[in-house]
Amino acid sequence: MDKKWHIESKLAQIGSVEEPVTGAVNYPIYQATAFRHPRLGQSTGFDYARTKSPTRAVLEQAAAELECGDAGFACSSGMAALQTVFMMFAQGDHLIVSLDLYGGTYRLLERILTKFGVTASYVDTNDLDELESVRQPNTKAVFIETPTNPLMMVTDIGKVGSWAKQHQLLTIVDNTLLTPYFQRPLELGADIVVHSATKYLGGHNDVLAGIIVTKGEVLSAEMFFLHNSLGAVLSPSDSYQLMRGMKTLALRMDRHQSNALAIAKYLQKHPQVAEVFYPALPDHPGYEIQNQQSSGNTGIFSFKVTDARYVEPVLRHLKLIAFAESLGGVESLMTYPAVQTHADIPVEIREAVGVDDRLLRFSVGIEHVNDLIEDLDQALEAARTEVEGGETHE
Ligand SMILES: Cc1ncc(COP(=O)(O)O)c(C=O)c1O
Repeated sequence: MDKKWHIESKLAQIGSVEEPVTGAVNYPIYQATAFRHPRLGQSTGFDYARTKSPTRAVLEQAAAELECGDAGFACSSGMAALQTVFMMFAQGDHLIVSLDLYGGTYRLLERILTKFGVTASYVDTNDLDELESVRQPNTKAVFIETPTNPLMMVTDIGKVGSWAKQHQLLTIVDNTLLTPYFQRPLELGADIVVHSATKYLGGHNDVLAGIIVTKGEVLSAEMFFLHNSLGAVLSPSDSYQLMRGMKTLALRMDRHQSNALAIAKYLQKHPQVAEVFYPALPDHPGYEIQNQQSSGNTGIFSFKVTDARYVEPVLRHLKLIAFAESLGGVESLMTYPAVQTHADIPVEIREAVGVDDRLLRFSVGIEHVNDLIEDLDQALEAARTEVEGGETHE
């Protein structure tokens, strides 16, 4: 890939220029786990597929270039990527973590990492006073989701990154929601980027994958060691599938973003909606930071209905939008975080943050925006009729 190319060109060309034998414009799936050694002490660069595998290597190189990092690592899921990163830490280490957070990351930290003596404090990572108040002599890293899933809280990556550097802490960013097309945390001062590539990078709700990108030789070597030693690597066919999805990332993100903004504005005015959480809206507290550090907005947002009794009938009446638990694909999905993605976060913590029984998360797909608005409109109206027995708002 030519460094001078725009990201749209880099994305479209993933794997297209790498196959020297046949010139195939799509990099093949090398379905091999072992590679012949030419002679004793010699290697083609590939020995055993857990360590390095050709199809995966093309994906990893592309991921590193897109995120402007030094090395990429493809994992069998986003959780596998997070686990690999967290295995850098040792007994007695402490992490500072975004308060509003994907539930699976919280579960990994609280139910598994604690067994190995690694602890975490959860704060608003945009508030340096809060970061300072929980920092301990054994703190090793700040882990940021920005925007957070599901409440869309925004953290200034540059500000936190320079605070972390002052204290010799690593900055790790989960960039799942924005992707390198809109935001590149390593350029803003982060050290490691993690993705659930199952989401926007893959983009079609058909491949489970994770990506890690590191900056600097030391971190890259350490991550290579962990990735190979832990073994939660991505298969050759899933690596291919992920690259195929990534080729259209730019087009999809543009449409996700424009659809999401139009629908968020529609919901803001809806009488059955109390609040919309989306950093692309000027009244969102993270609006300015988001605009400074990213060139666009994600395609998911959350909103609170005015009455929790609307939730069940809204989900039942949706026709085009599927009630399903993921995000980032071309199909629109609606999720109820309190009982799905965030069920593993204790209720008091969840509700203190704002993930309560009125909150719905909407992953806006690439369908026609009018069809999506019409579907929401009829589902909200049907829910109102059921709950209020047909009374009108006038
Ligand atoms: C922000 C974020 N990070 C990580 C993950 C975990 O990724 P995966 O489901 O691919 O294991 C998710 C999954 O929803 C997520 O939303």
